[in-house]
Amino acid sequence: MERRQRAKRSLGTNPVTGTAVPVTPARSASISEPLFDNSRGNPYNAHMLKSLEGFIKPGSEEERLANKLDFSRIPRHVAVIMDGNGRWAKKRNLPRIEGHRAGAKSVQEVIETGARLGVKVLTLYAFSKENWKRPKREISTLWRLLEDFLKKENKVLIKNKFRLRVIGQKEGIPSSVLRELERVEELTKNNDKLQICLALNYGGRTEIVDAVKKAMKDGDVNPETLGEEAFSRYLYTAGLPDPDLLIRTSGEFRVSNFLLWQIAYAEIWITPDYWPDFRRKHFLQALLDYQQRERRYGDILPPK
Ligand code: FPP
Repeated sequence: MERRQRAKRSLGTNPVTGTAVPVTPARSASISEPLFDNSRGNPYNAHMLKSLEGFIKPGSEEERLANKLDFSRIPRHVAVIMDGNGRWAKKRNLPRIEGHRAGAKSVQEVIETGARLGVKVLTLYAFSKENWKRPKREISTLWRLLEDFLKKENKVLIKNKFRLRVIGQKEGIPSSVLRELERVEELTKNNDKLQICLALNYGGRTEIVDAVKKAMKDGDVNPETLGEEAFSRYLYTAGLPDPDLLIRTSGEFRVSNFLLWQIAYAEIWITPDYWPDFRRKHFLQALLDYQQRERRYGDILPPK
């Protein structure tokens, strides 16, 4: 009770933007009571938990997980290797493409959850350079699913001030999909909420080689002074923070040529569940586990 009164009087500070956030005491909805009580006296946690009302069911496992989160330590950038669509379909005697279709629903869920929890960048590995080896029908279905997704979801992206960004080689992406991607990138380029980075026709090694080529073509590059930070400006991800957390589904312990440069210090979280089964509770669990890790970056103590 005392904690609640303290929160009622105070203004919290959003640690990402540094701006003050009003803290309204939660009273009526059943979800707000336990959430608010468990905010550990932290007004920002209380504010964030309150904003999840209606999104997270009272009494659910998700609520239990959300209660334990420290909202001032949400990873800025989460990257995801969405794996297991084919096996998910096979388990149900369905064609592989049904796994991809079901996977598109998980994409929607992960975007909404990331945005609500305060993640700033979400990078999704949707089509690798190696995926061209798959049967033609599967490849064309994957691109069609992506195009449908963009056509259907672009209003949601715009309304929520999300920004779409594509990383990977644009050459090779079917022209109708590329047109749609570029249209949505342009429409959302000034948005400052969640950045959704789609890795398409993407390969980590190719990205590094492309960066070297760009750096070599750029007359200003001096091999004597070129450092890691300057080099990273030539990567597809220029301007984005490195991923703090890398999630992989379907229980494989590989990085599969994904963001090889950028994940140098990412925390890796793997679930045995297939991507189409990936839900909010998985995301919350991944964030909670991430918050238990001590990131030392090679030092003996974490940075201050
Ligand atoms: C890996 O599963 C998944 C992919 C290669 C494609 C990911 C695509 C989607 C989730 C659908 C659409 C995407 C968006 C952004 C709307 P797999 O096929 O390799 O599974 P398997 O290892 O079990 O065969």
